[in-house]
This record gives sequence, structure tokens and C-alpha cells, in this order.
Amino acid sequence: MRCGSEIPVNFTLESMKTSLLFVCLGNICRSPAAEGVLCAMAQEQGLGDDLEIDSAGTYGGHAGQLPDPRMRAAAFRRGYRLTHRARRVTRADFDRFDRIVAMDRSNYESLCRLAPSPRAAARIVCMADFFRRYAGQTEVPDPYYQGDEGFELVLDMLEDACSVLLDSLKR
Ligand code: 4NP
Repeated sequence: MRCGSEIPVNFTLESMKTSLLFVCLGNICRSPAAEGVLCAMAQEQGLGDDLEIDSAGTYGGHAGQLPDPRMRAAAFRRGYRLTHRARRVTRADFDRFDRIVAMDRSNYESLCRLAPSPRAAARIVCMADFFRRYAGQTEVPDPYYQGDEGFELVLDMLEDACSVLLDSLKR
């Protein structure tokens, strides 16, 4: 099952910056990690100046917090330093970002309800749309109540998807 919208995902880097917002539930595990992974990959490939990358959560209960210490530690072991402060996604984000990337089906549905218009809703896609190694999986699973292996799996999936996502932006 495809989790994202049915529009083709073929947005490209042209003259202006492309802006991407990653969204999960709490904005302390998956989406700030996705932000950190994509930022690092873009920098490595000399595309840091072409992208604006941010993250947010559909639930605001962790607003202002750094990412979960378990995610920060797992990311740090792979060379990613996560310093984002959690915030709740807002309707204004639909004006600010070219693409809004949901981590799971529930995030996707919450974003669809929040979108101010059908045109704005067409900007929402799912991270699973970019899986290559994990093709066939429909979500980045919530690691919050999992052990360390849950956080490692999330990072494996995010690295897989971010690499495809970045390639799609270069085309
Ligand atoms: P995230 O993980 O959506 O990947 O940031 C979670 C963070 C917090 C909670 C659930 C998931 N929570 O229930 O507080």
C-alpha cells in the first residue's frame, strides 16, 4: 500500500531553494533524525545551500525539547548531531514548505486534516514513498516505546529514504 498522495513525487532543485518539512508525532525521535540525516547528506554532496530542511510534530507535548536522548545517542554514533528543538506543525507550514513528509500513516492523516486547502494537502507525501532497501514497508515505525534496536531501525530506514529523496531532488 502506498502511504503518500497519488501525485507523482518529482519535485526538483531549480533556481530557488527547495524546502522540506519532516513530520512525526512528537518531533523528538523520527522527524528530527530525518532532518539531521538529510542535512548531513546534502552537505556531503554540496547541496546544503539548495535546501531548507525542518521538522515538526503533530502533537505539541514535547515542544521546546531536544530530541529524545536515545535518538540523539544512536544518531551520534553514526555521525549525526541532532540539535533541533521540537515544535508543533501549524497551518502556516503549508505556505512555507514545498513538501511535507510524514513518517507514518497516522501523521499523514493528521496533516491532511490540518491542510488549509486541497492544493496544500497535495504537498504531503510519506517517507515510505522513498524507500529502496525497505521498499514494501509503508511507514517509519514509532520507536518511542521500543528498545535500542527500534532506534537503529529508524535510522536505517531514514538513511535509505533520504538517499532516494536527495537523488530525486537532483534530477
Ligand atoms: P516521534 O516519537 O513521533 O518519532 O517523535 C514519539 C515521541 C513521543 C511520543 C510518541 C512518539 N509520546 O507518546 O510522547
